[in-house]
Amino acid sequence: MMNYPHRPTWAEIDLSALQHNLQQAVNLCSTKQRLLAVVKADAYGHGAVPVTQALQSFGICDFAVATLEEALELRHAGITDNLLVLGSCFPGQEGAFLQYDLMPVLLDRETAVRLNVVAVEQSRQLKVHLKVDSGMGRVGFLPRQLQEFLPQLRQLDGLVVEGFMSHLACGDELNSTVTTAQQGQFRTMLQMVREAGIKPREIHLNNSAGLSGWECPECTLSRPGIMLYGGLPGADFSTKLDLQPVMQLRSCIAQIRQVPAGSGISYGHSYYAPDDMTVAVMPIGYADGYNRLLSNCGQGILHGERVPVIGRVCMDWIMLDVSHIPAAAVGDCVTLLGSADGLVITGDDWAEQLDTIPYEIFCRIGNRVPRRYLPES
Ligand SMILES: Cc1ncc(COP(=O)(O)O)c(C=O)c1O
Repeated sequence: MMNYPHRPTWAEIDLSALQHNLQQAVNLCSTKQRLLAVVKADAYGHGAVPVTQALQSFGICDFAVATLEEALELRHAGITDNLLVLGSCFPGQEGAFLQYDLMPVLLDRETAVRLNVVAVEQSRQLKVHLKVDSGMGRVGFLPRQLQEFLPQLRQLDGLVVEGFMSHLACGDELNSTVTTAQQGQFRTMLQMVREAGIKPREIHLNNSAGLSGWECPECTLSRPGIMLYGGLPGADFSTKLDLQPVMQLRSCIAQIRQVPAGSGISYGHSYYAPDDMTVAVMPIGYADGYNRLLSNCGQGILHGERVPVIGRVCMDWIMLDVSHIPAAAVGDCVTLLGSADGLVITGDDWAEQLDTIPYEIFCRIGNRVPRRYLPES
């Protein structure tokens, strides 16, 4: 097939920023803790395989994904490190967990029994991480379920309980009493497991927020995700964490248009030019993850200046007011997310405008946007 140039819209993934953020996470760990890097959802939109490979080169050898499919993508790329599958093992997937040496998170008794049957059939043992609901209110064994299940779990010879884990509901609120209560419940449930004669090697509770704000002396692992990618785990952390954006979303001006005062711009004419204006048309839209709610309120960075989005964001185009930048020309690069010329538009900035969290911003940068990894190896 002919090799055509790609439409000039791309996401740069700055691996040195990833390394910087990783170091911030490492600095927060106690000496007896390792980092288990969360690379689910295509490494929060940054590209699971290249990000995992980069993290490996920075010394990380424990990773978590959400699904079997995500785990297989990493295995097929030759990644042989510890892989924890947070979303557990759905019926029929048991053989793949054994074949590819994947660790499921155990969320219920039925899954444990299914996994055990297949492991015993193959005369194998499968490592699992037992997840308890210490107050998140989502998945995992509740205290009474755990108490009832533990005697049976001990008898499941095909399973090795490698890890014991839970997840925080309100770790992002630094003064949350929920987290204090969850920590207490976590310890109580860990004690129940130990008293049942099960001794997990790995203990983990903290995500990015937990790692940044809450101690877990008994933990051997922490599971940061968002902070590795430069997103804040919550507003309370803006002065606590020194993070760099890993993803820079850039696009080059496709057209420059001089429009007279009074011109309506884009669908619905939600913007009328107040004066004669210079408008830059950018080849990016909501199909690329440039959210339509950024209509008339998004921003770009061009030649060291901020340029506002005017009119509605379309599926494939957005318009910028570049009237104050006479040098603006077709082909010039505009940064829509990330840093350029000493200015920055963070995932947290978008999240605030869109009333969401940076996680969603990064995950939604579409697969129509190619990722370029810097520095190039
Ligand atoms: C079970 C679990 N652990 C860790 C993480 C990572 O969390 P964060 O990205 O807030 O660090 C997640 C992400 O949602 C998760 O679901």
